Amino acid sequence: MRNVHKVYSPEKKGKEKISVVTCYDYSFAKILSETDVDSILVGDSLGMVIQGNTSTLPVTLDEMIYHTKAVRRGAPDKFIVADLPFLSYQTSIEEGIRSAGRMMKETDCDAVKIEGGSDFICELISILKQIGVPVMGHLGLTPQSVHVFGGHKIQGKGEESSAKLLREAEAISEAGAFSMVLEMIPAELGKKASLELGVPTIGIGAGPDCDGQVLVLYDLLGLDANFQPKFLKKFADLHSIVKNAVGNFHKEIKSEEFPGKDHSF
Ligand code: KIV
Repeated sequence: MRNVHKVYSPEKKGKEKISVVTCYDYSFAKILSETDVDSILVGDSLGMVIQGNTSTLPVTLDEMIYHTKAVRRGAPDKFIVADLPFLSYQTSIEEGIRSAGRMMKETDCDAVKIEGGSDFICELISILKQIGVPVMGHLGLTPQSVHVFGGHKIQGKGEESSAKLLREAEAISEAGAFSMVLEMIPAELGKKASLELGVPTIGIGAGPDCDGQVLVLYDLLGLDANFQPKFLKKFADLHSIVKNAVGNFHKEIKSEEFPGKDHSF
């Protein structure tokens, strides 16, 4: 369903949780299109899980557009949010409009996501909404600011920090964000923000009381055997499945078992 008012309806708050998963390519998007998952996020986490960088900072707008187009082809009916990457919107309102506009025009996504809660970000959210671009916010551990935080660390701990997050959450909601991701914050703060805000919160490492949850697809599928942050539940062990499958393929080639008659013309 591609209706922001239905997928991210504030009326779902306290009644029905929203499920969101990241995706970066056509083949996985096709599988997701066969599930009931509410929404897809083409996250700039692709800079880490697809490109192998240590942060999301190197990702470009062209790369995000490339991946979002592929996801849209695989999931024509899903509500797709696409991340605007680092330095594609922070320099000026005009550049933010152009980047968001390119993303919407070239990929057929349904909304964009931007990080932060400053006055500048609020102004950008408000203007984007006015020109027809739905915006999802992102607070807490905002990975594009990882170097300011000194690593992928929990945010919003302590009175001052949690009060700041609540202020910013209120501000981006007032500015017109239809929803926001809350990443790596104490569960109590996730609960408080979700109760206070009029728009749905989507948590990742923000406790069970957010209005929805998002995970990186490759993380929930267990592709990386060594990645096990506290907030992550692995719903499959694809690492072992892929390793075994490729191992068996290799063995059968060596033993000349594959290809046999069944796989020959
Ligand atoms: O880039 C991403 O995948 C994200 C999610 C982790 C929320 O922003």
